[in-house]
Amino acid sequence: MGRIILEGFMGSGKSTYGQILSKEFLLSFADTDKEIEKAEGCSISSIFERKGEKYFRDLETSYLEKLSVSDICKDGVVSLGGGMPVREKNRSLLRKCGTVVYIRASRELLKERLRDRSAKRPLLKGENVDEKVDSLMDEREELYLDAADQVVDIDGKEIYQVVNELKRIYNRGRKKH
Ligand code: S3P
Repeated sequence: MGRIILEGFMGSGKSTYGQILSKEFLLSFADTDKEIEKAEGCSISSIFERKGEKYFRDLETSYLEKLSVSDICKDGVVSLGGGMPVREKNRSLLRKCGTVVYIRASRELLKERLRDRSAKRPLLKGENVDEKVDSLMDEREELYLDAADQVVDIDGKEIYQVVNELKRIYNRGRKKH
């Protein structure tokens, strides 16, 4: 089927699920944050600090532009940074890149997970995490849905259950080709 792309809010577990799925199917795996860090030679936090959010967002768009015309992870799994689907241009690029799956978590679950894990996330640093999750989700919920071909809800599920749903989506797509 080609590429399966995981989108969703920070803390939804995109990378964890993506890595497990790729290992089970022996697929290649890429995480856009990690790719950007590799290319820039520094962490996402320091890109935000030194060059600002717009610079980072432009890097994300460039990565998708490259992905849409290349063989990178062609039969593989790509996990996106949480803000990737916000730009309209990115959403239309994503349509050309593969099957987009929204890893959907409730706000309660996200808040619970992110309260202690905000240090490495520039958008949450120094913020009231609960309020920030609400305001970002108000802005993004629709956009995640707009970009998604499939939605997988994760609340109350074990990791293996979510991975099994992703496997089914992957296999369904694979049979089409
Ligand atoms: C962001 C999510 C982060 C990272 C950056 C911005 C966002 O990725 O790309 O800090 O705008 O939601 P994760 O979703 O992997 O934490």
